[in-house]
Amino acid sequence: MTVDLRRDLVKALAGFYAGHPDVDRFPMLAEVAGHLVAAVDADRIEAPEPVALPVARLLVDGDAGIDRASPVSGVADVLEAFTAAVPVLHWVQTPAYAATLSRQFLDNYGYVRVIGPGGLVESSVASAGLGIWGAGLHYPRHEHPAEETYHVLHGSALFQRGDGPWEPKGVGESVHHDPWERHAQRFGDETCVLLWAWTGDVAVNARLVQDEDPVRG
Ligand SMILES: [Fe+2]
Repeated sequence: MTVDLRRDLVKALAGFYAGHPDVDRFPMLAEVAGHLVAAVDADRIEAPEPVALPVARLLVDGDAGIDRASPVSGVADVLEAFTAAVPVLHWVQTPAYAATLSRQFLDNYGYVRVIGPGGLVESSVASAGLGIWGAGLHYPRHEHPAEETYHVLHGSALFQRGDGPWEPKGVGESVHHDPWERHAQRFGDETCVLLWAWTGDVAVNARLVQDEDPVRG
């Protein structure tokens, strides 16, 4: 039943955050977890119209499919629920990117909002979901007003914050960005699945930053 697939995904995400040690480091995660748990308890799960994107094949296609059996706590549950729900999910891409990034990028990138505006759980104060980036992609520098925490659920990536060094992160590791902190990612040689969470101004989408841009006014 499709409704259960959506609910299972919300539940898996709630479980991931609720028991995660990063909640102590990043209080925003407790906030997101609270909203997810409340929605599951009240059975407040929406059913946005399913929308397919090419990137979903990286999760489910035969040999190209991902290995969902992660030993890291909570990760396998989320990947399992995510993969099972693929056909009923509303896949999206950040609208401005479609006009800017290459066809190669757009065919290998997309995400699903589990909570947030238009998500499986409607919220105007918290947003979280799952994104996929194909092997080798470079996600150019971008920024947004929301505070953000990423967790790597599959594959690996180099993360750059501001003008800092590129830091490698693997499954189970996290990266935190302050509001408007510019960041970029370079993905490794496997499909990368990232869980992201936003709090604060979650209605404003990320936008790409040109390196030669003057400091934001
Ligand atoms: Fe971000």
